[in-house]
Amino acid sequence: MPPSPAPLVIRRFVPHEWPAYREIRLRSLADSPDAFGSTLAAEQAYGPDTWERRLAKAEVSGIDCPLAAELDGRLVGLIWAKVDAGDASLVNLFQMWVAPEARGRGVAAALLHAALQWARERDARAVRLGVNCANGAALRLYARAGFLDTGVREPMRPDSGLVEQTMLLALKPAVA
Ligand SMILES: CC(C)(COP(=O)(O)OP(=O)(O)OC[C@H]1O[C@@H](n2cnc3c(N)ncnc32)[C@H](O)[C@@H]1OP(=O)(O)O)[C@@H](O)C(=O)NCCC(=O)NCCS
Repeated sequence: MPPSPAPLVIRRFVPHEWPAYREIRLRSLADSPDAFGSTLAAEQAYGPDTWERRLAKAEVSGIDCPLAAELDGRLVGLIWAKVDAGDASLVNLFQMWVAPEARGRGVAAALLHAALQWARERDARAVRLGVNCANGAALRLYARAGFLDTGVREPMRPDSGLVEQTMLLALKPAVA
């Protein structure tokens, strides 16, 4: 009999897990420095209270959805969905990362699916993200999920030379 596929679990981070959240977030920034607006140096400088507060606030804010991916019980990926500060009908996605040893098995697709589900449950109009224009794997992932290039191009961070494109997925038809 062929081996059964490894169990993949997508779930919310809970506040007491902040050390594990910190570890995977720092690992993502070290592994993929060109994929994020933030940097390893910036986030390594945060004290434990900052990490603890991030998850504690997310638990009660009503506008945050930090998601963890576990494969065979090991934390291998994350994404953070957050309602836009200026537009309650828009959800932004951040921090998408899957550990290299778990890539190519649909972990990111499952994280994205769960984040989109959360956005739909909140009755969001659209979901938006920024992605490095040179990040082929991520561009393909988001295009497969139906995200479209808005044409917006912005520097990922000052002096980096990295350019990100904004992608948008409409969850509802635009009202005329
Ligand atoms: C981009 C990223 C999140 C994708 O994660 P992932 O878990 O490997 O994504 P998926 O497994 O869903 O898809 C990756 C590929 O595996 C394929 N795949 C998915 N499930 C599969 C399966 N069961 N069997 C075989 N192939 C599969 C997909 O079709 C896809 O192929 P493609 O890249 O040729 O289009 C990951 O590469 C990553 O973390 N990169 C660094 C950080 C980053 O770029 N983050 C995005 C910031 S915007």
